[in-house]
Amino acid sequence: MSTKFSSKLSTILVAAGCSVGLGNIWRFPYVAGANGGGAFLLIYLVSIIIIGIPVMLSEFSMGRATHKSAVGAYKELGGRWHWLGLNGVLAATIIMGFYYVVAGWTTEYFAMSVSGRLADFSSASQLKDLFGAIVSNPWQPLVFTLGFILVNHLIITMGVAAGLERVSKVLMPLLFFILIGLAINSLLLPNSLEGVVFFLKPDFSKITPAVILEAVGQSFFSLSIGLGALIAYGSYIREETNLRSAALVIVALDTAVALLAGFIIFPATTSLGIDPTAGPALVFETLPAIFQALPMSMFLSTVFFVLLMIAALTSTMSLHEVLTVYLMEEWGCSRKKGTTITTLIVAVLGTVASLSFSVLSGVKLFDLNMFDFMDYLTANYMLPIGGLLTCIFVGWMLDRDVFEEQITNKGKLGGSIVPVMIFLLKYVCPIVLFIVFLNSIGIFKF
Ligand code: TRP
Repeated sequence: MSTKFSSKLSTILVAAGCSVGLGNIWRFPYVAGANGGGAFLLIYLVSIIIIGIPVMLSEFSMGRATHKSAVGAYKELGGRWHWLGLNGVLAATIIMGFYYVVAGWTTEYFAMSVSGRLADFSSASQLKDLFGAIVSNPWQPLVFTLGFILVNHLIITMGVAAGLERVSKVLMPLLFFILIGLAINSLLLPNSLEGVVFFLKPDFSKITPAVILEAVGQSFFSLSIGLGALIAYGSYIREETNLRSAALVIVALDTAVALLAGFIIFPATTSLGIDPTAGPALVFETLPAIFQALPMSMFLSTVFFVLLMIAALTSTMSLHEVLTVYLMEEWGCSRKKGTTITTLIVAVLGTVASLSFSVLSGVKLFDLNMFDFMDYLTANYMLPIGGLLTCIFVGWMLDRDVFEEQITNKGKLGGSIVPVMIFLLKYVCPIVLFIVFLNSIGIFKF
């Protein structure tokens, strides 16, 4: 594995590869659709700017200052605060539990596109039934989930940075252009305007504590922040790379992909009569319907689902790395052993999540099946809590010079942004996140 990314472009592309994934294309539209569209979008964007960017810079700084990943970095910088890193390791593990299942569904839709079977389902109601039939079959999704976990394992054992770099550099730009084409196509559909209005126009009466929590959670999930994954990335960033401009580009790319997904899905929902509040099924019901109406539909849908699988893979690799490196640094495992243990743990969690739509559908926590519970718990609680702790740590505990040196490249770049970031980290982010939590559990109403 190379010890540093080869250039600034690689840094950005690799981090963007980790950030852009099913979170942008599958999760963003489903959560936005279920939480009021424009109202959700507004809070999501605000959260990215005032919380996402400072937290991302904090994670990068901690990584580049220590050349370690989460737990090790906290140990070096904050001594007994190292347990803060553990929340992240746990969150990464649980995220993988459901994320691989969605990657498995993606693979299944890819397989149905290649074989042409997907062409037999075209109306909104047929596609809805198809998704329902797929997930409620215990075996098939499980095989695809475990298959994806195995492929991920094999790729990882061949070396992280090199593989990741090569894959993301070529294919993510391609995915981006396809998304632009699909968004234009959706905007040209009949009745698309209604969907655009739903997506963009905030209906302030829809802003509830739950919607705020979902929007903040989604911003963390999408940017891959809050669990220290970007601390490990920071440790690979070269000393001369400007962290702020890297973070800005990554955030802009990630947000652009999410917005494009919104512009693909929502105009199509109103045009094709699909319920935007369909939940995790939303994109799997909508995308095939969009493809059906295009020329060379099965070819396009195959290419699309392959790229989505690769986008998922670059994200799962980064998540996998969090637990693996933890096992290596803290438990003295070899890389090989750490990778294998991680894969086995994830296989168990993935099995539980996959079966939660069939044989385990009766097993519920807080009224959610295990898949939904893993999704909800990590995105809406564990990541924002990790982010809150990161802000408190960097804003209040960490020697300010450590952060300042990283942000200004030891004084080579201007430092006027530092006080702004420190202010956000010290006061704005912790207070906002704290209020969001209290509010969501009903303790503090506004
Ligand atoms: N951001 C990725 C996505 O949108 C998921 C992901 C990868 C992630 N690594 C992460 C989320 C680390 C949180 C933390 O699909």
